Amino acid sequence: MDLYSKEVMKHFRKPQNVGKIKNADGIGKVGNLRCGDIMYLYIKVAKDKKGKEIINDIKFETYGCTVAIANTSLLTTMVKGKTIEEAMKIKKDDLVKKFGGVPFIKIHCSLLAVDALAEAIYDYFKKIGRPISKELEERHEAAEKIGEELKKHHGGLFKVEEELHKEYEK
Ligand code: FES
Repeated sequence: MDLYSKEVMKHFRKPQNVGKIKNADGIGKVGNLRCGDIMYLYIKVAKDKKGKEIINDIKFETYGCTVAIANTSLLTTMVKGKTIEEAMKIKKDDLVKKFGGVPFIKIHCSLLAVDALAEAIYDYFKKIGRPISKELEERHEAAEKIGEELKKHHGGLFKVEEELHKEYEK
C-alpha cells in the first residue's frame, strides 16, 4: 500500500497558491514543536456582492513535510472565495478526510494549515480592530507559546525565516 493517497500526492507535486502576498490583510505564522516545521500563510480579504467579507486571495510558504505542503495547498483551494466564517469552520479532520486519511504520525502536520489560517484571520481582525472570539484568542495564545518554544530551540532558523518574510509584513 502506498504511504500517501493520490490526493495527497497530487497536492504535494503541484501545490496550489504557493507564495507570498504583498500588503496582505492578515499573516499567519505558525510552527510545529514536534518537527520544527514552519508555515507562513497570507490572506487578502474583500467583500462579495452581498457585502460579506470573503478570502479573496490566499498564499502560503512552508518549510514543512509532504503532508504539510499537501494539506495547506488543499486548504487554500477550499477557502478561496469563502467567507471568513466558512473558512474558520474547516478543521484538520476535514482535510484528513478529503485526503482519504494520512499516516497517524502525520496527523499533526494537518494542524499547521488550519492553525496558520486561524492566525492570519486573528491578525486581520487585530489590524481592523474587530473583537476577537474566545476560541480564536485561545488558539492565538497556543500558537504564540509554540512560537516562543521554537525560538528558544531553533533561534537561528527563526531568524532566517523572519528575514525572508519581513518585506511582506505591513
Ligand atoms: S513533519 Fe513537520 S509538519 Fe509534517
